[in-house]
Amino acid sequence: MPNQPLHIVLGISGGIAAYKSLSLIRLFQKNNAEVKVVATPNALQFVTPLSLQTLSQNKVYTDPFQILENVDVEHIALAEWADALVVAPATANIIGKFANGIADDALSTLFLACDKPVFIAPAMNTKMLHHPAVQQNIQTLHLRGCHILESSAGYLACGTTGDGRMQEPEALCELVMQAMSRPALFTGKKVLITAGPTYEPIDPVRFIGNFSSGLMGFRLAETFASLGAQVTLVTGPTHLSIAHPNVQRINVQTAAQMLEACQTEFPSSDIAVMAAAVADYTPAEVAPEKIKKSAQTLQIPLQKTTDILATLCKQKTKNQCVVGFALETENELENAQTKLKNKKADMIVLNSLRNEGAGFQHATNLVTILDKNGNVQTGKLKDKAQVAEDIVGYIANYLKLTK
Ligand code: CTP
Repeated sequence: MPNQPLHIVLGISGGIAAYKSLSLIRLFQKNNAEVKVVATPNALQFVTPLSLQTLSQNKVYTDPFQILENVDVEHIALAEWADALVVAPATANIIGKFANGIADDALSTLFLACDKPVFIAPAMNTKMLHHPAVQQNIQTLHLRGCHILESSAGYLACGTTGDGRMQEPEALCELVMQAMSRPALFTGKKVLITAGPTYEPIDPVRFIGNFSSGLMGFRLAETFASLGAQVTLVTGPTHLSIAHPNVQRINVQTAAQMLEACQTEFPSSDIAVMAAAVADYTPAEVAPEKIKKSAQTLQIPLQKTTDILATLCKQKTKNQCVVGFALETENELENAQTKLKNKKADMIVLNSLRNEGAGFQHATNLVTILDKNGNVQTGKLKDKAQVAEDIVGYIANYLKLTK
């Protein structure tokens, strides 16, 4: 695999930074990649099809009608061919289309058909970049698993200086190559991950839930998948999406449904990571009709749910590794040690809600990892994608996995 050329589809949209994409083609090729270019009509105001074709040594895809004419449906064939889609420069317009599922040109159509890693390099005027609409679209794409190759500050084509300048081709190439040339440490391993909250119904219109966004579990799923694992992601309700060919997603709502899905998947799994915020109690009975407002106080009898982590740990064989999370607000380390011991997990990832920027509803997290061999490792406050890297790296070391 390492000697096979990487297949990169380079998407170019209509910004002045398109001229840098010509160097990017060359740099990818120097790194043993084959490049095919998809350019929007506006991109061709800045660079010519002839230069793109000559440099990439491949046909340039530009016209959606040309695509429609082809019986092979080229955007699908191209999405299949690609190992990665790199969009540089990505204008506010193309980012908006990607985020909102609009497919009216060759590039936006390809984007929807592509389930491979996507890298997006925004490039635009500072005010446009900072507009809430653009920021929200970038955030949406980030949450859906696209790699955002952040623009930097510098001199802009509009004559001003500020954020929005596309990174230099050398830096972009390195970021893409680094992300794509990761050792497939987990090839052949099946990983079960739980994520998100659970919703425990009270009556037909109400439930008991919690503030978990699911982000940590989704980032873990992406990281394992990018390292070659086959991932089953059992998730409670969340607005997050994931598009990786190695990830199978199972949607559940309640703790009981999550348990059932895990029981089915666990026997064939090598590793299980329980990142979900599972309800500890569920209404003893679900009212068949909406509960009407009447007395001053209302009591809803609750009963304990089954602890999924502890259940799997009881069933685990010596070749399986089970990792739990612990969400604490006080006596954090002590409580996490107790959970590690009582639930008989191999490892516990501790989140403290006392650390600012950590835990639920944040894009960042700060975790301490404890394992059953007595090791304790505390990290720093980082983006959840980087925290996922740290956790997965810790698991790889714990299991002594090497390339
Ligand atoms: N967990 C689980 N099933 C449950 C409850 C929790 O699998 N019914 C898992 C979580 O996914 C997490 C770990 O157990 O990996 C710890 O969850 P946490 O909420 O921190 O602890 P609890 O065991 O629920 O204990 P407490 O709420 O009393 O702290």
